[in-house]
Parts: sequence; C-alpha cells; structure tokens
Amino acid sequence: MRSALITGASRGIGLGIAGSLARQGFGLTITSRTAEDLEELAVRLQSLGSPAVEYLACDMADRDALTDLMSVHESRFDLMNVLVLNAGVGTGGTLASFKMERYDRTLEVNLTSAVLLLQRAVPLLRRAAEQDLERGATVIALSSITGAYAEGGLGVYGATKAALLSLVETFNVEESGNGVTATALAPAYVDTDMTNWVNDRIPGEAMIPVADVVKIVDLLVGLSARTVINRMVLSRSGTNGYCP
Ligand SMILES: NC(=O)c1ccc[n+]([C@@H]2O[C@H](COP(=O)([O-])OP(=O)(O)OC[C@H]3O[C@@H](n4cnc5c(N)ncnc54)[C@H](OP(=O)(O)O)[C@@H]3O)[C@@H](O)[C@H]2O)c1
Repeated sequence: MRSALITGASRGIGLGIAGSLARQGFGLTITSRTAEDLEELAVRLQSLGSPAVEYLACDMADRDALTDLMSVHESRFDLMNVLVLNAGVGTGGTLASFKMERYDRTLEVNLTSAVLLLQRAVPLLRRAAEQDLERGATVIALSSITGAYAEGGLGVYGATKAALLSLVETFNVEESGNGVTATALAPAYVDTDMTNWVNDRIPGEAMIPVADVVKIVDLLVGLSARTVINRMVLSRSGTNGYCP
C-alpha cells in the first residue's frame, strides 16, 4: 500500500490533497490541532477509497508531538511514499511593529516543524523509494508567493516561506540521488479560510481554487524520480504576477 502523511489536513489545501490521495488509494496519516475534525475526516477519507487512515491531533509547534506523529505513521505503514508539509500560520504585520512572540511561533510552525518532520521522515521516504525505483518518494512543501516576492506586511511570514524554498532545494541536492524528490509550491492567494480576512478586497472567486493546487500535487506525485522540480510559483490571473 502506498502511504502519505499530510499536515494541516482538516481544512483548505491540505483537505483537498487528502481527498485526492484517498481517491488514489493511499493509506494516510492526517494531522491538525483538532481531534474531532480528524476523527470525522478519517471516516470520510476511507469512504473515498483510502484503505487505512491514522490520525494524531498535534500542534506543529510541539516538537515532541511531531516525533509521535512520525511514529504513528511508521507503526502503521512502515514507509512513506508522500510527505505533504502543508500546515502553516499566516501572520501579518510590518517588520517595524512585529511582536517577537508571534515571530517565534510563526517560525516554529512554518519552518522548524518542516525541518523536524523532514529529518524524521527521511528513513521512511528512502525506504519507499527503494521499493518503487521508478516513482521514488515525493515531498511537497507549501511555501507561498510571499516567499518568492516581497509583500509589505507579510515580512516574517514571507521569510519562513522563503526558507522553505531554500530547504527544498538543499533537500533535493542531498536526497534526490536516493530517489526522494521535493517541490515547494508557492501560490498566491488560494480560496481557503486563511484568506477570509481579505475577501472584502479580493473575493474567493478571484483566488486560486484549492482544486488547482490539488491537481499540481497529483502531477508531482505521479512524476518519475528522475525529474526534480524545486519550486512552482502560482500567480493569480489579473495581477502583475508578483503579489499574493
Ligand atoms: N490560502 C492561501 O492563500 C495560501 C497561499 C500560499 C500558501 N499557503 C500555505 O498553504 C498552507 C495551507 O493553507 P490553507 O489556506 O489551506 O490554510 P487553512 O485553510 O487555514 O488550513 C490550515 C490547516 O492547518 C492546520 N493548522 C493550522 N495551524 C496549525 C498548527 N499550529 N499546528 C497544526 N496544524 C495547524 C489547520 O487545522 P487546525 O486549525 O484545526 O489546527 C488546518 O487543517 C499553509 O502553509 C499556508 O501558509 C496558503
């Protein structure tokens, strides 16, 4: 059975990806902070076609919980074909006024969790790649267009997302020879709960649909292990291409 671990799976982009991987028959480990959401979602994902769904509620800022999360996946599935580093916190504020407590949390959730999960997942990803030499194993990290281009008021958030772009490139240098490849997706505004705050200026219909991000993930998961795509920047139509 192919298996995937998805963070932030209960809503938005992560939920879309979880649904698609379930339809493709992946065994899944899903996580977010809310156990009730995960319990209900596990049932739905099995009805969509996933043969097995494990879940653990945890905060991405809780380093011990991330180790537990990886153990939950390993005990059930032994290896990992796909890792989706999706959970993230969107924090706005100018650099001149940004509170350091928010800074610490933003870094922990958006960046440190990705480093820790990647470290812990590498043995499982390599194992999957050894068993499927053609497809290898795939990592998808949700960066943001603000990691690629500057946007006033999103400096700290953007810095964590820029770091993910760099992290993925280094990961590919180190691991793609082992059949494990990673891609950072850097979308402009996607129509999810995270972007509700801006709906008075930009309605959901003018944003990138979750379904488009999911199609790109499906494409990446289906590629052979011989192709590396470090990053994909997804701009919104009707913009200059550089703004969220
Ligand atoms: N929406 C956009 O416009 C956009 C654009 C570019 C990049 N992105 C990135 O794409 C990713 C997903 O965004 P989204 O729009 O789908 O977000 P969303 O709709 O707000 O969903 C976020 C998901 O992550 C979980 N989550 C949030 N904080 C968490 C934490 N501290 N620990 C564990 N889980 C947490 C949420 O569940 P709980 O709240 O129950 O924990 C939920 O499942 C994020 O990394 C975001 O930065 C989004």
